Amino acid sequence: RPRVLSGIQPTADSFHFGNYLGALRQWVELQEEHQPFFFIADQHAITVEQDPKVLRQRTLRAAAQLLAAGVDPQRSAIFVQSQVPAHAQLGWVLQCLTGFGEARRMTQFKDKSAKGGEGAASVGLFTYPILQAADILLYRPAYVPVGEDQRQHLELTRDLAQRFNHRYKKTFRLPEPYILKATAKITDLQDPTAKMSKSGSSPSGIIDLLDDPRMSAKKIRSAVTDSGSEVRFDPEEKPGVSNLLTIYSALTGRTVDDLETAYSGQGYGALKGDLADVVVEFVTPFRDRTLELLEDQDQLAKVLAEGAATAGAVAEATLRDVYDRVGFVPAG
Ligand code: TYM
Repeated sequence: RPRVLSGIQPTADSFHFGNYLGALRQWVELQEEHQPFFFIADQHAITVEQDPKVLRQRTLRAAAQLLAAGVDPQRSAIFVQSQVPAHAQLGWVLQCLTGFGEARRMTQFKDKSAKGGEGAASVGLFTYPILQAADILLYRPAYVPVGEDQRQHLELTRDLAQRFNHRYKKTFRLPEPYILKATAKITDLQDPTAKMSKSGSSPSGIIDLLDDPRMSAKKIRSAVTDSGSEVRFDPEEKPGVSNLLTIYSALTGRTVDDLETAYSGQGYGALKGDLADVVVEFVTPFRDRTLELLEDQDQLAKVLAEGAATAGAVAEATLRDVYDRVGFVPAG
């Protein structure tokens, strides 16, 4: 079975609808026919300052949410990045293959360092995409299910894989991004031309999976829409309404066409009211399940340790090949 791999950062108390619809749902779907590796990117998280206690809690919360979303430890290796040292080790080798200018072109660094100025950003934030390339290449996956914002990092990953294969010997498989067009960019409810984001969105623009469901319903009902009244999917002219239709369609399986017909002549209020109910129905059991899983932290730690053992064996084998090809002398 072809492998799939993806990761998510534990940088908030809860994942949001963008994470879920853009990525996690595809993780769950792909685990059926593939050999999956899914991890919590705690080493990426520390590229910006984190409170250690909070980071530890959020990592466990992330694990509980992955399980609640349907990632199945019987089928998938679920693990924490820092528990598999090969990620950082391959990261170093790949840093030495990356041009400074090439790293500088990564737009995420530009965006994230824009606020405090480049001088205040960590070097880890700069080399972030190279660690991500290592995360991926260690497992030789066929597909990497992510949202649109990760596309550039996937391109760098493929470039580095090709460069290594060419310079040394064919070692890495070139991974394909797996990005579902419909849900690749869920937008901010208050600013529907921007992506919904843990760090960038205001609280009323973002729906967290672990929010109080009544609060999420309220956010949907007060989402920004344009001044017209026609329910029509048109991301250019009607980004707010289109985002709501995207979320509605993704959660119910109804097509956008079907929804447009159903709400024709009814206005935005009806659409928002019904979508609020759909969202409550989805998040309520998700939240209950996550909180239940969090009560047994030993069990979560055990799942993660088993995942790290499975992933570690695969990652170590790749790293051994890499070290050998680079010319490192093995110990013993
Ligand atoms: P992160 O933690 O920011 O987001 C996790 C996943 O959610 C997707 N996503 C979205 N999709 C659609 N609409 C949105 N508004 C939205 N916001 C987030 C992201 O695209 C991502 O798939 N660099 C990664 C973590 C990572 C990784 C990896 C991913 C580290 N190593 C290796 C894949 C492979 C990140 O910051 O994701």
